[in-house]
Amino acid sequence: MIFAGAFVAAGAAQAAQAAELEVTHWWTSGGEATAAAELARAFESRTEHAWLDGAIAGSGGTARPIIISRIIGGDPMGATQLNHGRQAEELIRAGLMLDLTEIAEEQGWRDVVHPSSLLEGCTVDGRVYCVPLNIHSAEWLWLSHQAFEDAGTSVPTTWDEFVAASPALRDAGKVPLAMGGQPWQAALANGVISMAIAGPEAWRAVNANLDAEVAAGPEFAAVFQAAADARAMTRGSNVQDWNQATNLVITGQAGGQIMGDWAQGEFAAAGLTAGEDYSCLPGLGTHDILSTSGDAIYFPVNDDPEITEAQYDLARVLISPETQVAFNRLKGSLPVRADVDMADANECMEKGLRILREGTIMASSDQTMSPDTTGQIEDLMAEFWSDPSYGPEDAQTRYADIIANAD
Ligand code: GAL
Repeated sequence: MIFAGAFVAAGAAQAAQAAELEVTHWWTSGGEATAAAELARAFESRTEHAWLDGAIAGSGGTARPIIISRIIGGDPMGATQLNHGRQAEELIRAGLMLDLTEIAEEQGWRDVVHPSSLLEGCTVDGRVYCVPLNIHSAEWLWLSHQAFEDAGTSVPTTWDEFVAASPALRDAGKVPLAMGGQPWQAALANGVISMAIAGPEAWRAVNANLDAEVAAGPEFAAVFQAAADARAMTRGSNVQDWNQATNLVITGQAGGQIMGDWAQGEFAAAGLTAGEDYSCLPGLGTHDILSTSGDAIYFPVNDDPEITEAQYDLARVLISPETQVAFNRLKGSLPVRADVDMADANECMEKGLRILREGTIMASSDQTMSPDTTGQIEDLMAEFWSDPSYGPEDAQTRYADIIANAD
C-alpha cells in the first residue's frame, strides 16, 4: 500500500514514497511484543514509512509454515522474521527473497557484524538475503530465587546442584523444572542438556558434523538418562507456551526453566531484577559456552519499487547501532554488532556478552541442520518428554538414526 507524497527517507540516497510495510513475526509474549513495538517505533520515527504489525500467535513452529506458504503462494509480506540459518534457503534459491547485498556493502555489514557466522547465515552464493537482528542463545537455565527460598535451599550454581535441590522443591510444593508442551521446547531442552552433559566436543560432533556414532555412543547415553531425570522434574508443569512456563518461574511456582535468553524479556516485563529475583546459568552452569542463533529479517521480493525502497530502509534501521541497543535490551538478546555500547547491561546479559567476547561460542543447529531434520528431532523429543514410559535407550536409538540420515 502506498501513501501519497514524495519525501527523502532518512539515510536513503534517493527520494522515495512512504509505504506501509507488513512485518510478520511470532513475538507475541509480553516481553517480545514490547521489543517488537520498539522496532516499529524506530522504523516509523526514522523513515516516512508505516509498520503494519503482522504478529502471528503461537510460536515459530506455528508461524514459520504460515510465513513460508504466504511467500510461496504469491501473497508476500513486506518483511518477516525467521531464524537466520537454513530456514529460508529454499525460498532464496527460488528467487523469492530480496537481495540485500548492495545495502550490506553500503553499510559495511561485513565489518560490523560479529560473529561473522551471523552474516554467513544470511548469505547464499556470496549474496546477502537477510539482516541479522540479534543473537539468541538457547543454553540457559533460569532460576527463581523465591522458589529456592521457599524450599529452604540456596540458589544452585550448576545443573547438578539444581537436580540435587529438586526433592526440596517438590516438598515445598514447587515444580522443579517448568516446561511448556510445544515440541520445539522439548527439543531445545534436550539440546541444552546435551551440551552440558556430553560436553562441547561431543555436542559439536553431533550437531555440526552430524556424527551418528557419537549420537549412539556413551556421551549421549548419559544425555538421554539426564533428560529422562529432567523429564520427571517437569511433572506438574501443565502449560503449553514457553512464556507460561517462564511465568511459573517468575511467580516462584517453579524452580527453574531451560529456555533461550528471550526468557529475559519476560523477567524484565514483569519488573524482576537479575541477580536479585532470578539467576541465570549459561551452559546450565556446567560449560560456559553458548550457541549463536537468533532472528533475522527477510524481505520477500515485491514488484512494487516503493515497497522495495521501504524494505531497504527497514534493513538500514534494523542494523543501526540505536536500534541494536534499544531492541536487544528489551528482547533479552545480544546485539549483532560488537561496536555498540551495552554498558548498562544487566547481570545475565553481561554473562552473555562476556562469553561472546571470549569467543566460546558455536553455531546453532538452525545453521547446521535442515528444517526437515530439525522437525524430526522435535517430533522425537516431543514424544520422549511427554511420555514417562518412553525409555532413554529407545530415544537415543531413534535420535542416532535421525542424525545418520540428517542433511
Ligand atoms: C525463537 C526466536 C526468539 C523468540 C523465541 C520464542 O525462535 O528466535 O526471538 O521469539 O523463538 O518465541
